Amino acid sequence: MLTNRPRTKILVDGGDPNETLRIKNLIGFVDGQTTNPSLIAKNPEIQRLIASGHKLSSREEKEEYQKIVQSISPLVGDAGVSIEVFADLSTRAEEMLAQGQEMFSWIPNAYVKYPCTHEGLRAAQMSVEKSIRVNMTLCFSQKQAAAVYAATKGSKESVYVSPFVGRLDDRGEDGMELVRNIKEMYKHSDGHVHVLAASIRNVNHLLCAFALSSELATVPGKVLEDWAAIGFPMPDRDFRYRGVDTSGNLLKVIPYEKLDLNLPWESFDLAHELTTKGIKKFVADYQSTLKRSA
Ligand code: E4P
Repeated sequence: MLTNRPRTKILVDGGDPNETLRIKNLIGFVDGQTTNPSLIAKNPEIQRLIASGHKLSSREEKEEYQKIVQSISPLVGDAGVSIEVFADLSTRAEEMLAQGQEMFSWIPNAYVKYPCTHEGLRAAQMSVEKSIRVNMTLCFSQKQAAAVYAATKGSKESVYVSPFVGRLDDRGEDGMELVRNIKEMYKHSDGHVHVLAASIRNVNHLLCAFALSSELATVPGKVLEDWAAIGFPMPDRDFRYRGVDTSGNLLKVIPYEKLDLNLPWESFDLAHELTTKGIKKFVADYQSTLKRSA
């Protein structure tokens, strides 16, 4: 078990309550959990239903999702359970909000995940006005993180923004640099947005998230097991991180942008091709569990 608890809150990135329990027993605690449509599609019970020839109706899928997060909810601490709305590229903010309101009522410690798009940001703005906690997902740029800050200003609750490290690494950019840049930008902020390092692929990513004082990190069970297997090391003063690809070549540094957090959120360019690609992938994984295309 982990004796020195890091300041970064540790969330399990998954969709299986049994895995969350296993990790809790291994580490001694789990601060929170993030789920998404791809992870829910991989849930063993949903996989069992599909393997037996039973594809789900969208209502059944929602009920399964609810059951899963209700099982996870009591296992985790105050970082809560993030539940993602089902959104494609044409879903309007009002529809996301309606889903978000319902999902928020499922458990007492819910965070609703919306994508870092114009409509997702609008849904977040309306949500925080209704005291719904939000986690802004599929964040791939500092401008998106600036917009999250501006759109949710005044929120009584902490807002999460989730930069996706591994998916940037996958295309040759050092994803940890995005976490570093957002943290740097938020130094000059009111602190209401917390950085949740996501798409973590290995122990080095996790240690770098600690070293950068990311408020939270969401980590696949396998990576947490790897970390436990080597005795839960923590980054020391000399810890240096530089992202490399699978062949050991250095990843491209993402330059810091000087952005004014006081500008209206609509003034930031939110476009990022990985956000678009990510939404399409979530839709495809969600639909793979359904009887027919939703
Ligand atoms: C968590 O909120 C994210 O959905 C998750 O970390 C994405 O990870 P992936 O890039 O491994 O799918």
